[in-house]
Amino acid sequence: MPLDVPAIRSQFPIFQREINGKRLVYLDSAASAQKPQVVIDAMVEVWSHSYANVHRGLYSLAEEATLAYEGARAKFARFINATDVGEIIHVRNATEGINLVAYSWGEEHIHEGDRIVITELEHHANLVPWQQLAKRKGAELAYIPVTDDGSLDLTVLPDLLEEGRTKVVACSVMSNVLGTLPPVSEIAAMAHAAGALVVMDGAQAAPHMPLDVQTLGADFMAFSGHKLCGPGVGVLWGRRELLESMPPFLYGGDMIVTVKRDDSKWNVLPHKFEAGTPPIAEVVGLGAAIDYLTAIGISNIQQHERRIIPYAMARLREIPEIRVLGPAPSERGAVVSFIMDGVHPHDIASVLDEEGICVRAGHHCAQPIHDRFCVPASARASFYIYNDEEDVDALVAALRKTVSLFARRQSTPR
Ligand SMILES: Cc1ncc(COP(=O)(O)O)c(C=O)c1O
Repeated sequence: MPLDVPAIRSQFPIFQREINGKRLVYLDSAASAQKPQVVIDAMVEVWSHSYANVHRGLYSLAEEATLAYEGARAKFARFINATDVGEIIHVRNATEGINLVAYSWGEEHIHEGDRIVITELEHHANLVPWQQLAKRKGAELAYIPVTDDGSLDLTVLPDLLEEGRTKVVACSVMSNVLGTLPPVSEIAAMAHAAGALVVMDGAQAAPHMPLDVQTLGADFMAFSGHKLCGPGVGVLWGRRELLESMPPFLYGGDMIVTVKRDDSKWNVLPHKFEAGTPPIAEVVGLGAAIDYLTAIGISNIQQHERRIIPYAMARLREIPEIRVLGPAPSERGAVVSFIMDGVHPHDIASVLDEEGICVRAGHHCAQPIHDRFCVPASARASFYIYNDEEDVDALVAALRKTVSLFARRQSTPR
């Protein structure tokens, strides 16, 4: 079903405001998505009417808060088709989820001489934790390279997957710079055949496409609520037997069953990995966001973006000064990163801001993939449920203005 974009926009209070006297065109959802009123209301409702700490209180309010908090966990499980709610760990964000795995699983299982495989297109969140683990342990960090057209060069993978030596493959389900959609199920099958575990970074993919951890073949997957129209809270999913075998990541209240002076016993899953008071209203708010997106339909969102992306790329191709990085429209998710001849991405973003258009400029926390394309930075337009062709047209008009503004500046004698 096509999305009713004007109706969706009207559900987001932020779209009532103007930026620099212009209609707000928000093209930075890959960094963080805007919030619909239902999510804001759900959090206000918790704080106004049913707030208390969870798991501990024996009074009605605490029970209500615990029910809402645990009810949200069940929604997250259904969202990614996890059959066991104990496998859903609430974390701060995808970054923390991946760090949890790299520390808790990695410290026990990665040894000197082992190999960790990642890809050249990873966000720093799925790169630096593995890089530093490899450094701590004397392990090798190997990269699956990216081809000139922005896809993964999987011809090298069989050589990188050395049985007994390659312990883990960590891969993004969707690149936040190129939009590339790596064949993660195929990678997972190859990794498993070589005895390696698979960690999937679902931060960029979760808002845009159905994710089913049963069929993807992941052992762990992390995503962030703030990219799903929710607040700042994240989810780590992991296979129960792996999570059971791992030591806690953080220590303190709630993650124990008994504490004696000299030792402690850990709580059951998922609580073993949720030390301290959790972000209660945020978890409930993400539950509301998942309900909201599920009602729109994740497949409908994916279809919507499959229409916007080819349109955006075709329109950007009309501007000869612009070079888009990454694969063809049919091979990518809803992000388009580009560079403009002679104009720094920061300058592009500043000119667009004057027109009320928000894009990201810089390395988007993914420096190695920019190095791969020999550019220090890019500008990135990313699309979501509240964007349509009208937004693309506004972007293209503002980019044309940027081109002529800088052409004039360059031709003006100083
Ligand atoms: C592909 C990818 N992975 C991980 C992250 C990290 O997400 P967070 O900052 O919410 O932890 C991002 C954020 O942009 C991302 O795009």
